[in-house]
Amino acid sequence: MACKRGALIVLEGVDKAGKTTQCHKLVQALQRSGRPAEMMRFPDRTTTIGQLISAYLEKKSDLEDHTVHLLFSANRWELVPLMKKKLEQGITLVVDRYAFSGAAFTSAKPGFSLDWCMKPDMGLPKPDVVMFLQLSPTEAALRGQFGEERYENSVFQRAVLQKFEQLMKDPSVNWKVIDASQNVEDVHMNIKNHSLKAITTAESQPLGELWQ
Ligand code: TMP
Repeated sequence: MACKRGALIVLEGVDKAGKTTQCHKLVQALQRSGRPAEMMRFPDRTTTIGQLISAYLEKKSDLEDHTVHLLFSANRWELVPLMKKKLEQGITLVVDRYAFSGAAFTSAKPGFSLDWCMKPDMGLPKPDVVMFLQLSPTEAALRGQFGEERYENSVFQRAVLQKFEQLMKDPSVNWKVIDASQNVEDVHMNIKNHSLKAITTAESQPLGELWQ
């Protein structure tokens, strides 16, 4: 008998919401409970495309806005065969940012519609659950200074948050809003509970296609 597929679990949110910490904690908790799980993150800066994106984010290079948007999307598509293989092997993937960051960040730039920004990612493997770690810009600011990378400023992050709010109105995606202002352990428990449900549901459902 073929093994049950793993779940595709995505964490999204504005900067400082604690996505990366929570992804690590979730993978550890799932593994400890005997469920195969691995973490992925986008952008994946290790590939050739990822290196172009990384240089852009570190402001070592400039790229035209449409071009970099398509590179972020290509960076997801190039990993689709690997993602599908792992999911088919029964491994749950916990993903730090996905197409939602792609659409929210580029559409926060002047002259970009959300609709155009979503198009290149249509048909990607559809997450079984997308958890949005919600934190007000005021609370995010209390967690410390932004770094030096592109997009790390509060004016742009507020625009990005508005775009995420638009994306979350889409009922075709299984969104869960998580209050990221709670302490790390409470946020983790909340995320773990949603993830366990998604893993159970995924066992009996085929992998879907995003935004189709
Ligand atoms: P991170 O590696 O710290 O998560 O940062 C990646 C940055 O790139 C972050 O500012 C969000 C942004 N981004 C996009 O603009 N488009 C995308 O598709 C993704 C995944 C991230």
